[in-house]
Amino acid sequence: MIEVSNLDVIFGRGTPLEKQALNGINLTMQQGSFVTVIGSNGAGKSTFLGTLAGDVIPTSGKVVINNKDVTRQATAERAKLVARVFQDPLAGSCGTLTIEENLALAAARGKKRGLSPALSSSRRAEFRERVAGLKLGLENRMQDRMELLSGGQRQALSLVMATLAESEVLLLDEHTAALDPGMAEFIMELTRKLVAENKLTTLMVTHSMRQALDYGDRTIMLHAGDVLLDVQGDQRKNLGVEDLVKMFRDVRGQNIDDDALLIG
Ligand SMILES: Nc1ncnc2c1ncn2[C@@H]1O[C@H](COP(=O)(O)OP(=O)(O)O)[C@@H](O)[C@H]1O
Ligand SMILES: [Mg+2]
Repeated sequence: MIEVSNLDVIFGRGTPLEKQALNGINLTMQQGSFVTVIGSNGAGKSTFLGTLAGDVIPTSGKVVINNKDVTRQATAERAKLVARVFQDPLAGSCGTLTIEENLALAAARGKKRGLSPALSSSRRAEFRERVAGLKLGLENRMQDRMELLSGGQRQALSLVMATLAESEVLLLDEHTAALDPGMAEFIMELTRKLVAENKLTTLMVTHSMRQALDYGDRTIMLHAGDVLLDVQGDQRKNLGVEDLVKMFRDVRGQNIDDDALLIG
């Protein structure tokens, strides 16, 4: 479970560039819930995920994960609790290492030791099996360097890597935005499967109103650093893409075109 209370983030405090990115967020997410996060550019979505991951330390307020106050805990310290996949397929893995080496590093996430001891044959077989499960044929390329793969292939492996080590929370920050529609769909179905299998408490930022309603069990909209909309259950089932778009228009003013909302 994630409990966030009175969360404020102010960047560049006391400088001319001072910016309040988060403005008193209160939110409780039950164990295993899958929350989709929408909001226009600059709403505070990435900053919010950053406070959960540990790379943004809040100005005030509290972040509690599984009854542990992690507000000021560094990213590395909470790595065994929180896994992440970014928008940029290059951000989640190391291009000059092989697929297998990347998986070994991911499996060691949050543990004291890194790559050593050398990959045992049983470990190799386990990784190969996981990768074969993607049905992308990558199990035959385990010794290939990651940089040889397409963005979609890397993103699929990033998801596998995020779920290799045990964790409680999965943070996805527009992780399909850089992919073509077919691959984005594939990655979304993989996301759905891995989240369910691993019972992860998940936050997924998306620009697509359709994705926001089709995936997960709860949707929140951030605006100016606070939660403006929070729907689940029947209320969410009764909500259509056009309702979300209307809410967007209402908070943003009318000067926003449909393309910017990725309605499809
Ligand atoms: N490291 C930072 N330093 C200063 N300002 C930042 C920093 N990160 C984000 N911001 C500002 O905080 C606001 C929220 O940003 P962000 O969380 O990235 O929004 P979103 O992900 O919803 O587009 C924006 O105005 C952004 O310019
Ligand atoms: Mg962002």
